[in-house]
Amino acid sequence: MLQTADDGRTWLLTGPTSGYAVHLTEHGELRHLHWGPRIELADAEALAARPLPDSWPFESALDGHEEYPVEGGPRFVRPALSVRTAERRGTEWAFETYETKGGELRLRFRDSGLGITLHHRMRGDVVERWVTLDNRGPDAVEVLRADSATWTLPDREGWRLSQLHGRWAAESRLVRTGLTYGEKVLGSRRGHTGHQHLPWVALDTDAGEEHGEVYGCALGWSGSWRIAVAQLPDARVQITGGAGYDDSGLLRLRAGESYTTPVFAGLWSGGGHGGASRTWHAYQRTYVVPDADRDRPVLYNSWEATGFDISEERQRALARRAAAIGVELFVVDDGWFGARTSDRAGLGDWRPNPDRFPGGLKPLADHVHGLGMEFGIWVEPEMVNPDSDLYRAHPDWVQHQPGRRRTEFRHQLVLNLAREDVQEYLWEQLDGLLSSAPIDYVKWDFNRCFTDAGWPGEPYPQRLWADHVRALYALLDRLRTAHPRVAFESCSGGGGRIDLGILSRTDQVWTSDNTDPLDRLAIQHGFSHIHPARVMAAWVTDSPNTMLGGRVSSLRFRFVSAMAGVLGVGGDLTRWTEEELAEARDWIALYKEIRPVVQRGGLYRLRPPRGGLSAVQYVLGDETVVLAWLQAQHHGEPPPALRLRGLDPASSYACRETGEVHRGAVLLHHGMHTGLRGDLDAAVVRLCRI
Ligand code: GLA
Repeated sequence: MLQTADDGRTWLLTGPTSGYAVHLTEHGELRHLHWGPRIELADAEALAARPLPDSWPFESALDGHEEYPVEGGPRFVRPALSVRTAERRGTEWAFETYETKGGELRLRFRDSGLGITLHHRMRGDVVERWVTLDNRGPDAVEVLRADSATWTLPDREGWRLSQLHGRWAAESRLVRTGLTYGEKVLGSRRGHTGHQHLPWVALDTDAGEEHGEVYGCALGWSGSWRIAVAQLPDARVQITGGAGYDDSGLLRLRAGESYTTPVFAGLWSGGGHGGASRTWHAYQRTYVVPDADRDRPVLYNSWEATGFDISEERQRALARRAAAIGVELFVVDDGWFGARTSDRAGLGDWRPNPDRFPGGLKPLADHVHGLGMEFGIWVEPEMVNPDSDLYRAHPDWVQHQPGRRRTEFRHQLVLNLAREDVQEYLWEQLDGLLSSAPIDYVKWDFNRCFTDAGWPGEPYPQRLWADHVRALYALLDRLRTAHPRVAFESCSGGGGRIDLGILSRTDQVWTSDNTDPLDRLAIQHGFSHIHPARVMAAWVTDSPNTMLGGRVSSLRFRFVSAMAGVLGVGGDLTRWTEEELAEARDWIALYKEIRPVVQRGGLYRLRPPRGGLSAVQYVLGDETVVLAWLQAQHHGEPPPALRLRGLDPASSYACRETGEVHRGAVLLHHGMHTGLRGDLDAAVVRLCRI
């Protein structure tokens, strides 16, 4: 709901539990009023009537109170907007008008020829904010920086910042620390979202998992980005974020051109970190992720089984075994195209390797379909190996600086997707590929960062940073429209491109290349603070784990770990024993039963993975699923009872595993014992309200 006060200067957005208000002062400054629990319009008006502190030479009255601080004038905070023309730098804006349409508030300002519109929209309890710039001329305007939003927190003491940091194969680790004066800057200057931070922060003062106030902000952008959390001199906290890492120039707007920033979404929750996560999850399932009401299938991926050593016959053998254990989607990973027999060649040539697939992909796809599964493939369209037909024909199609070395990572270079000829080439290749065989699923990878982001001959080369992402989005959108039955997974060496932007055009993400089931619990724990299980792909692979450290774990532990998201299998099934295959079949059958609850239910993190017992719980209607893991048992320290959440204390619940009936109040207050013992044990418990 969106309300405008009688003064025509105060606006209140209201969600199921939260409210957000801004006010235009009589001097034309846009003041942030409220972000927190629901309030009435009269409350917003009362806040608007409170005077701002006085300005004096060393402090600005606006700092910490403005909804979108621009560069210029009496402001000392980090500007959200920084622009320049040939003549001057900064913004002195005047309010023009406002519009309220379909629950969206648009506040239009103008500075000479530049129109600046701030957009606010409440979806569930999530406020979406973004900005449009339109240059009405006559001068060209250079946009040095255009953040999507600045968020202002209420006056409180002792703010804590939660962030999800990581690196390759160790993504989304949760860290929580106290804020101090100054700025904490998170971001990526790598050209993609990055493994190092998910573009998300949460702030609280004393929240727990299920109580207290939490503010969360998440950016929908898949290129370089920056979120700056500032504790100002008067201790107020503001969070500013948007596309691009630095302020050295994002794009140039000629007369008649416009630019829309990505969405920076924010939420307030009164239900602790768990409540905040559930609000994020519901928001993404309802408004962001395409077809999120359709549950994701159990997939098999051949990467860990075969590496680059791919043959049609071996894929058929794996597919037969995958089908026999209940897999629903069979995915051929890297190595099926061009001269791709290692990571040294072939990227860019998106035609099936004639030695490996003499009849193209269709015979294998038909075989897979004949086994009752969907068929998927791996691609990495934004890249090229120098050893490829594409690069030999178009060495100028890659990002490069004139006269400088072209840095290779994994023997590959980044295509300059800002170029229209590159966009058209990729469209033709991928559209042709998806038309050539019945392909249901594409794993879209991105395996190196930008290093030489130059564009010889282009007058404003730095625009390629943002234009690359916009071209990627446009390509995905075009492919989805032309091939509506194809699902897409976002992968970037595991979890290097996970954000609300890519999730609005992909069906799931590859969480991490680390498939060790224990390491995965920490990664999944962090991930769950922002994204839902419905998009979190997780595979059961071989034991000892081939990639990392060689940890040995039971099939039970591996399956229950991977069942916390979108279950997949990535082991070498041709080496699994009959007993292992039979056990896998049972786990997959169980997963299919609990899948609606896992993928669509509300998530409760019962205990974090910190060495002993950890558990998550999902609730959907009358159904509840608990997944529990015991990392290590210690003498004299029996695993504690798990206190469940989200249940009705007045109801009784039947356990499908044991047939026992439990009282809701008892499960909530006293908990239940899982019976886990030993090292790396795990259990699934299903409860149904009776
Ligand atoms: C990336 C992905 C892996 C796999 C390889 C293939 O590292 O994250 O899952 O697809 O590429 O080269």
